[in-house]
Amino acid sequence: MKFYFAPMEGMGRYIYRNAYNKYFHHIDKYFSPFLSTSSSGVLKMKEFKDIIPENNSGIYLVPQLLGNKADDFVMAAREVSNLGYDEININIGCPSGTVTAKNKGAGMLRDLDSLDRCLDGIYNGINQSNPNLKISIKTRTGYFSHDEFSEILEVYEKYPVYELIIHPRTRQDYYRENVNLDSFQYAVSHCEFPLCYNGDIVNVDSYKNICNRFPDINTVMIGRGLLSRPTLVEEILSNTDCHSNQKGISKFTSKEAKEKIIGMHNVLYREYTDALDGERNIMFKMKEIWLYLIISFEDSERYAKKIKKSKNLHEFESIISDIERHGIYII
Ligand SMILES: Cc1cc2nc3c(=O)[nH]c(=O)nc-3n(C[C@H](O)[C@H](O)[C@H](O)COP(=O)(O)O)c2cc1C
Repeated sequence: MKFYFAPMEGMGRYIYRNAYNKYFHHIDKYFSPFLSTSSSGVLKMKEFKDIIPENNSGIYLVPQLLGNKADDFVMAAREVSNLGYDEININIGCPSGTVTAKNKGAGMLRDLDSLDRCLDGIYNGINQSNPNLKISIKTRTGYFSHDEFSEILEVYEKYPVYELIIHPRTRQDYYRENVNLDSFQYAVSHCEFPLCYNGDIVNVDSYKNICNRFPDINTVMIGRGLLSRPTLVEEILSNTDCHSNQKGISKFTSKEAKEKIIGMHNVLYREYTDALDGERNIMFKMKEIWLYLIISFEDSERYAKKIKKSKNLHEFESIISDIERHGIYII
């Protein structure tokens, strides 16, 4: 099985990616949060900084692009490939209202003729300027309803999609409704190109459910599950019920897992303190990180409340010391 780290706007930029990668291994590909394409063809400084190779040493990164104009994609793809990348991913899944209102992200699924024209421009334009660049797609399975998915797939099938990553929710579902495994099944039965499953893999059991239902799938992408259980891939690999454990990962204790998480926290705290201006911004970022991480600790609600209520870095640090000394990571 190959494991991908999902693009997570607001969380998964290079500081997080590097800290995670220092303590937890076995991620085959990381996807950058979306980079907005524009008619100027120039990526914003924050986005550029996120993907430059110096900030991603030892990491296989796939930059993800968001937009709705083929020419803008082609220009951004050129900029990205000039940095040495040989794969890009197109975001056709972002459900945010500000994105879909501009017919970007999942908004592209509302008008399949426009989607088709846009993909035609992207694949042809990139093929002319950079024929070796691989173009994968990350998609939802509909805008309003999963019934739209067969027609969406007919559009994708016209292009040499390097890999199709499917999050089987509609745009209207956001992240609320259950994932619709029947629509993923439809893709498994009908698609020629490689597929990757994404959605709600949060523990070994949910991973096993996907493997049991789709035995031919050999790539999964995980997002929130890795933010709240950074050990998840190691747990899966060390669990011989899942597969043969070719990588020889041994089981670890709760104490060992906690040590790695605190190690990762320490790196993140140091890096964000250097990168961000002012206590407020650092607190905001660290609270966001811990609201995911704390879910995997016993007594998480009590800790989460304390973290949320902490008013300054001194208070925040003392809660993290408490977790370091007494917290129990649930294995
Ligand atoms: C905070 C947040 C930010 C996200 N940012 C992106 C993004 O930039 N690009 C993208 O394709 N998906 C984005 N997603 C969607 C995730 O990549 C993923 O598809 C979704 O969370 C479902 O997978 P999961 O259940 O494993 O988290 C984001 C999701 C969340 C919760």
